[in-house]
Amino acid sequence: MKTIALISTAGGAGRTTLAASLATLLARRGRDVVALDFDPQNMLGAYLGLDTLAAEGIGETLVDPSRAWHESTWRNDDGVLFVPHGNLTLAQIAESDARLAAHPRWLEHAIRDIGLPETGVVLIDTPRYPSAHADHAARAADLVLAVCPPEPAACATLVARLPALRESCADVRLVVNRLNPARAMQRDALAMLRAATAMPVAQRIHLEASMPEAFSHGAWLFDEAPHSQASHDLHGLAQHVDAWLPALTTSEAA
Ligand SMILES: Nc1ncnc2c1ncn2[C@@H]1O[C@H](COP(=O)(O)OP(=O)(O)OP(=O)(O)O)[C@@H](O)[C@H]1O
Ligand SMILES: [Mg+2]
Repeated sequence: MKTIALISTAGGAGRTTLAASLATLLARRGRDVVALDFDPQNMLGAYLGLDTLAAEGIGETLVDPSRAWHESTWRNDDGVLFVPHGNLTLAQIAESDARLAAHPRWLEHAIRDIGLPETGVVLIDTPRYPSAHADHAARAADLVLAVCPPEPAACATLVARLPALRESCADVRLVVNRLNPARAMQRDALAMLRAATAMPVAQRIHLEASMPEAFSHGAWLFDEAPHSQASHDLHGLAQHVDAWLPALTTSEAA
């Protein structure tokens, strides 16, 4: 079982969108997938098909260890097992930050309980980095997908935080999301990112106006517009991750 955290230093970079899309595409390839919402925003469930935000989840376990998050899991139509964060109050979020600070391996231990087969994968959605939740996710992960829009502020903050991120997880790969190659500013921002990090881009995902719309009516862009560039890119990301994961046996492969 491998763990992958989606992390970014910018808000609205597309972490939740990519976590949900990747979970679904990997499940369709025959992988056992757990999508874990480790962001108090508690939005991942909406992307995976829940009508209402889940009231309970792993966040409750963080503030009250007698609560088992296993009881709040839910499986979507594609077979992704979803672990919600749960709807915490501001006071509870402060409490969970304190608990994470006091127990640096809390998430790592919680993930160990999941017990997927060797070829399975846990995908973690996170709040903006740096934060206690995102830091735990990075340290629990075998692979960090650093999601970055090609914009100056997002690229500059990623460059600044990359050394810390690499200390937390040895394998950090760059995913550029919301790419619009027609915009000169984006080309400049990407050139700066390349020069400052010497990091190749693992996958580029183009800006697609109908992406938010597809989610708003509970559909996947790659089903509604399978020939769009962004759908092709999302499959490319799933292919990249699938190739990184231990190979499926012939009977497991979809
Ligand atoms: N490639 C894309 N093209 C167009 N819109 C996109 C793309 N990727 C994500 N979006 C849209 O951008 C918005 C923000 O995406 P998302 O919520 O996944 O980002 P996030 O990084 O999880 O944000 P937050 O910081 O709030 O957690 C959503 O409306 C989503 O549909
Ligand atoms: Mg999000």
